[in-house]
Amino acid sequence: MTQDLKIVLKSTAQEVNQALKTFLPEGLPEILHESMAYSVNAGGKRLRPVLVLWTAELLGGVKEQVMPIACALELLHTYSLIHDDLPCMDDDDLRRGMPTNHKVYGETIALLAGDALLTRAFEVIAKASEAGANPADVLKVVKEVGEAAGSLGMVGGQVVDILSEGKEIDLETLKYIHAHKTGALFRACIRSGAIMSGASTDDLNRLTAFAEDLGLVFQITDDILDVVGDEAKLGKPVGSDQNHAKATYPALVGLERSRKLAEESCQRAKNGLTVYGEKGELFSQLLDYICEREN
Ligand code: IPE
Ligand code: IPE
Ligand code: MG
Ligand code: MG
Ligand code: MG
Repeated sequence: MTQDLKIVLKSTAQEVNQALKTFLPEGLPEILHESMAYSVNAGGKRLRPVLVLWTAELLGGVKEQVMPIACALELLHTYSLIHDDLPCMDDDDLRRGMPTNHKVYGETIALLAGDALLTRAFEVIAKASEAGANPADVLKVVKEVGEAAGSLGMVGGQVVDILSEGKEIDLETLKYIHAHKTGALFRACIRSGAIMSGASTDDLNRLTAFAEDLGLVFQITDDILDVVGDEAKLGKPVGSDQNHAKATYPALVGLERSRKLAEESCQRAKNGLTVYGEKGELFSQLLDYICEREN
């Protein structure tokens, strides 16, 4: 990671962490709120809110109006991790360098903490209008995020991921899994940042294509790290995919070809940024990081 990117990424993540605190509910039932805060505060790269905020910045959006949406997407992402780790899903014990939510709070509270984070996310999106955002744009974001998170998006991808365990699937099905379980949320982050900033149709189309490539690079790398990563750096188990005979890029096409496909998508995504000149440079660096990351 370049020094430039490191500094900006860290400072945006800090701003997000600050804002996230204000969106976590407190009070009764305390155990539920503690469990929600446990997973949100466990850390994480905060890539999804970063993408919302940087897209808005690229297109001249107003940070205060976009921040609730950035935070909502992190709450929603955290819900997806809690549920993804449950024994009935990937059955993992480590997440963000800490014991998974159900290991600490039990399956029932972990399930409900996920439910509560998902619903809270939509409540927090609505708060963008309290910060002066155009209600029509906020409504578009609700639709965008709802579609991306539901059966036509992330949940749909998770279903096919689980149903494909132990099966021989083709590349088309694997692409479906990745585009939905992971890509859909990244796409929604970038499109939401763009919608909140009054993006033109051209910008929206360009950034959507960029987001789809970025999502693919991200998940291919996630699959690769599950094979060759270092658990201490990753903060989650290595070898989980193989244990569950998951449909992944390394399983289907091998490590070398997986790397090549990630690099190709990375290059394609970068090409789509040239129109933004200097302003697109940070995204370009972020793509390199996503492709080469170790966590
Ligand atoms: C992990 O996402 C889940 C996937 C979609 C593969 P991240 O790698 O962004 O997880 P955090 O937020 O940094 O913990
Ligand atoms: C999970 O994909 C995607 C979602 C959480 C929706 P993975 O199962 O590969 O994510 P990790 O590797 O556990 O983070
Ligand atoms: Mg999974
Ligand atoms: Mg998993
Ligand atoms: Mg994985």
